[in-house]
Amino acid sequence: MMACTLGITDLDEIVALEARAFPAGAWDRGAVQGSLDDRFGLHLGLRAEDGALVAVALGVVIFEHAELLRILVAPEQRQRGLGRALLDALVQACAALGAERLSLEVRAENGPAQALYTAIGMRQVGRRRDYYVDGEDALLYAIDLLPSPAPEPR
Ligand SMILES: CC(C)(COP(=O)(O)OP(=O)(O)OC[C@H]1O[C@@H](n2cnc3c(N)ncnc32)[C@H](O)[C@@H]1OP(=O)(O)O)[C@@H](O)C(=O)NCCC(=O)NCCS
Repeated sequence: MMACTLGITDLDEIVALEARAFPAGAWDRGAVQGSLDDRFGLHLGLRAEDGALVAVALGVVIFEHAELLRILVAPEQRQRGLGRALLDALVQACAALGAERLSLEVRAENGPAQALYTAIGMRQVGRRRDYYVDGEDALLYAIDLLPSPAPEPR
């Protein structure tokens, strides 16, 4: 697997992976494009050896605060550590950009995503009742980020 930065040239592949990863509630092309166009956006992916895009993380880093908007792994590649590898890479990238905290909201019934967030050391810091249009609650997760190491003195 190869980690990569994603941009507007990857739009079609990301939209296709969204549709496969979320049978209900996938982001449409406009939503993905809006995220890719965000000047505070941080977009990382994992590609298989044949070049296929198998995982995507879309986030924003606004000065000290980073937020994960989406993370998705191709259905046939799940529970092999890819989500964790990608989220670890995102955490490192956020810290390197100077963010002090990464937060996100997740559907209360999305067990796999909550297992992933817990596995990398995030903790639940809140709940928003009836947050989603279908009435499901959102849980808020966060992790404090360590500053990236200072360069070695010469
Ligand atoms: C959530 C998601 C990204 C996890 O990706 P993944 O590659 O399967 O996760 P990993 O294999 O890296 O697993 C990370 C941890 O979560 C746990 N986990 C993942 N899926 C799980 C499941 N279905 N049930 C229980 N635990 C699970 C793993 O055991 C692992 O914990 P560990 O490191 O302590 O063993 C993936 O399920 C997915 O794409 N879901 C659909 C999209 C989605 O809901 N995204 C989140 C909201 S935007």
